[in-house]
Amino acid sequence: MPAVRRPLVAGNWKMNGSRAALAEIGGMAQAFDAGLRSKIDLLVCPPVPLLWAAAKAALGTGIAVGAQDCHARTSGAHTGDVSAEMLADVGATAVIVGHSERRADHGEKDQDVRAKAEAVRRAALTAIVCVGETRDEREAGKTLAVVRRQLRGSIPEGSTAAGLVVAYEPVWAIGTGLTPTVADVAEVHGMIRAELRKLVGKGEFEGVRILYGGSVKPSNAAELMAVENVDGALVGGASLKASDFMGIAGVYR
Ligand code: PGA
Repeated sequence: MPAVRRPLVAGNWKMNGSRAALAEIGGMAQAFDAGLRSKIDLLVCPPVPLLWAAAKAALGTGIAVGAQDCHARTSGAHTGDVSAEMLADVGATAVIVGHSERRADHGEKDQDVRAKAEAVRRAALTAIVCVGETRDEREAGKTLAVVRRQLRGSIPEGSTAAGLVVAYEPVWAIGTGLTPTVADVAEVHGMIRAELRKLVGKGEFEGVRILYGGSVKPSNAAELMAVENVDGALVGGASLKASDFMGIAGVYR
């Protein structure tokens, strides 16, 4: 395994948090000391209304901020939508695209996810492309086929290691307290790396970080983060409190 992959621990606040929650970024900054900063990247993705204030709160702390979705276009008549360029303008450095909750709530398909990931790249931000199987798909033995199809459909051609992160998030593990076995995580992440070799190309695929997401907590993070080809975590519920989030990030100390 090349030493080029710097772990990334990313928090997805989803539709949670008011301005008062910005104090958690202060708590995270306190625990993100020079030792840990030298080892990992830390990213917090709050809801859009908090993004600008979160970027200001994170200034000088080493913590990056990102968004949870964007529109595929730069600007125009798209009421209620937000472009990647707008997110960059208020301080985002990354955008999560294709989260299973967006695929389910908004009917986003692989081709939509790819268009959004392309928009993220156009804005010179990092796209965190989410993939993962449902419980039915896992029970039917289709996990690898489903994730492979999502990767092929969602990842833009010509993606670079700096511009792309893949997050494997089994839908049945999100917010449920359930997690796959380490053997299952290793199998899927190994397949993703092999697929990236074809999709992203030589010289880049080894540097793309593959995050595991779905019920990551301080109590299971060490075990999950130790799996080969797991280069960090995408954390939902446990990213809302600085103590939990930094308990997870702290496994990299
Ligand atoms: P969870 O969510 O950590 O609350 O399971 C993860 C995610 O949806 O990104």
